[in-house]
Amino acid sequence: MTQPGRPPAASQLTLSQIMDQHHTNLMGTVHGGRILNLIDSAAGVVAARHSDGPAVTAAMDETVFLRAVRIGDVVHLDARITWAGRSSMEVAVRVTADRWDRAVPPTTVVTSHLVMVAVDEGGRPRRVPPLLPQTAEDRRAFRQAEIRRRHRLSLRDALARSVPEETAA
Ligand SMILES: CC(C)(COP(=O)(O)OP(=O)(O)OC[C@H]1O[C@@H](n2cnc3c(N)ncnc32)[C@H](O)[C@@H]1OP(=O)(O)O)[C@@H](O)C(=O)NCCC(=O)NCCS
Repeated sequence: MTQPGRPPAASQLTLSQIMDQHHTNLMGTVHGGRILNLIDSAAGVVAARHSDGPAVTAAMDETVFLRAVRIGDVVHLDARITWAGRSSMEVAVRVTADRWDRAVPPTTVVTSHLVMVAVDEGGRPRRVPPLLPQTAEDRRAFRQAEIRRRHRLSLRDALARSVPEETAA
């Protein structure tokens, strides 16, 4: 049975966190893995909201670190579903940082796109509601997500078809 569609606004999430000294790297700024962890968590909430149940991360790509995050920054993660298929969803996450000294305006520090798959109790993919883009921005994000999906799947197929060097004649 087809489930009723839902707009991106119904599941979007903003999560804010103060960056403390527990997650520094050797440069004294915030470790990228800490930011990835927050991104993954935010995307998981959005996917669970859209699909009314658990979802796992299938792919985390298109992640761009634009600026370093510093200790004392307040980071804000804006997570929003951009596309939904049969069981998979793409969630876009934008991370902005308010610098502690407010010397510069809030800055976009990381952007990321994740593929989340809704699963049942046995970990098997389950159907998700269709996405109903409502605004011009929703529709633009949806079209771009379709392009990324085509690229992801064709890259995966091309790599699977490639002949390992040691077995090539
Ligand atoms: C994600 C997972 C459930 C997919 O299982 P699977 O048997 O490959 O399922 P399918 O081939 O039917 O794919 C399910 C959906 O995911 C999509 N998908 C799977 N891998 C993908 C990838 N690398 N890139 C893009 N889409 C992908 C498929 O296109 C399909 O989408 P659709 O149903 O919307 O058409 C399975 O690989 C898994 O459990 N991975 C581990 C997840 C995990 O532990 N994450 C970290 C902790 S949350």
